[in-house]
Amino acid sequence: MKTLLLQVEDDPQQHAAVGQAAQILRRGGLVAFPTETVYGLGADATSVPAVEAVYAVKQRPLDNPLIVHIAAVEELEEVAIPPDSRAGLLARSFWPGPLTVVLAARQPIRKAVCRGRETAAIRMPSHPVALALIRRTGRPLAAPSANLSGRLSPTTAAHVLEDLDGRIPLILDGGPCRVGIESTVLDLAHGPPKVLRPGGVTRKMLAEVLGEPVAVSDSEEDALISPGMRHRHYQPRAPVYLIEASVSEGALSDFLDELSQSGRSGKLGYLGNRPSIRCRPDVIATAQRRGEAEMARHLYADLRELDRLSARVILADMPSSSGLGRSLRDRLSRASSGILEEREGKIRSAGGSSEKNERIPEFRAKPQSRKERKERERSFSQDL
Ligand code: TXA
Ligand code: MG
Repeated sequence: MKTLLLQVEDDPQQHAAVGQAAQILRRGGLVAFPTETVYGLGADATSVPAVEAVYAVKQRPLDNPLIVHIAAVEELEEVAIPPDSRAGLLARSFWPGPLTVVLAARQPIRKAVCRGRETAAIRMPSHPVALALIRRTGRPLAAPSANLSGRLSPTTAAHVLEDLDGRIPLILDGGPCRVGIESTVLDLAHGPPKVLRPGGVTRKMLAEVLGEPVAVSDSEEDALISPGMRHRHYQPRAPVYLIEASVSEGALSDFLDELSQSGRSGKLGYLGNRPSIRCRPDVIATAQRRGEAEMARHLYADLRELDRLSARVILADMPSSSGLGRSLRDRLSRASSGILEEREGKIRSAGGSSEKNERIPEFRAKPQSRKERKERERSFSQDL
């Protein structure tokens, strides 16, 4: 299959490429399109075969349900059954925008996207191309991020092409995504509101609108509710290590010297602002990002760039644990093979979520017990 990439510059509501995309979607085909968070791989959310094609193209685990995208707050009640006024309140405050709410689903969405469960995740994106596409298709669109499962989410049309060239007929190019990380997923279907995935809308913003505290997912239990949080996610090719803010310059510099001299070829990739690392000749640093919003906007593109430049390891400063920093921390932790901590002047690696640890013997962490892992995750949530 040849994949067409069409730019949509102005007036997406009238644009021919959007009309072409809507036609493909109405016939049960797939189209990648921009949203303000990341690019999505869209399908008609009312069609079982169209939704099944998304799983096949992405190689996505079948138990991981998709987000349903709508184009107006009023459409919420056509696809879901809000238990009370909170969903409407949040929709009016944060839509269009990077918030997804999990609610009891109505048919035919339920049959097509819910994978045997009763709830669906719904959001109204703010990107004008996404809104025009949903309107012109005349149906809600099921759309996961437009990457192969387990790979980094795409934030430009070129990223989509890297993963899906030849697998889908059309990509709409609406420029780079403004937010850069996926939407916040908030569960409203199982009691008090709970964040299942941190994202562009922070817990504090939600609590202010709701006038009540908002809980944060406790990984293992909630993996049953939101399977996407259980699967491996957000992985660049090179193993990623996060540097705890408390690590001293001296210990880090000795550690990097050792690492560089360890006989392996390739430079060390770095995502962060420590001048002592950025200026090392054995390091490739990405552009300096100021503030968390800017970091989020470029996070996935920066990780891809370091992969492209064949960094053998990617080191990243640990983001702060509040606000958008919490969402960045979540994404980086999921991508990471370990966290670099300092003990008695020496750097050690702890934790991490992937087997890539094995590839760098000097980084090998002691295996974490289930209890240790839970404690670490809990301390992340409490930091909020
Ligand atoms: O920003 C975004 O949300 C992007 C853009 C394209 O809208 N989409 C996205 O989709 O990130 P995806 O499929 O990569 O992630 C969807 C997340 C997964 O963690 C999934 O488990 C969760 O939402 N989810 C979907 N339906 C759910 C449901 N019924 N209950 C709980 N979690 C659900
Ligand atoms: Mg995804």
